[in-house]
Amino acid sequence: MSDTPNSGYYQRHIFFCLNERLNGEDCCALHGAKEGFDHCKQRVKQEGLAGKGQVRVNKAGCLDRCAGGPVAVVYPEGVWYTFIDNSDIDEIVESHLKNGKVVERLQLPDSVGR
Ligand code: FES
Repeated sequence: MSDTPNSGYYQRHIFFCLNERLNGEDCCALHGAKEGFDHCKQRVKQEGLAGKGQVRVNKAGCLDRCAGGPVAVVYPEGVWYTFIDNSDIDEIVESHLKNGKVVERLQLPDSVGR
């Protein structure tokens, strides 16, 4: 990878919605978002994928696709995921973040919004 300003500091960037609504409305925080985020962060580190030129795992606020929660999105591909448990996260890490292969079975349909 060249060292020009637009070369992309990270190869892939995954954002997890961790939004929590205190007014009782549904949100990703009520569906295991934090657990998924923590597990992803840990797995990426264990696999030696974290850091410049590789993968960054970030928290995000509401991504406005709450009906599919918990949700996460991977850039630069712009692929959206929903997940249930740690084995789903493991698959996203191994297949997509590490090897660039989208996990189709966990993709969030385009029709899912807020
Ligand atoms: S609360 Fe997670 S996308 Fe809106």
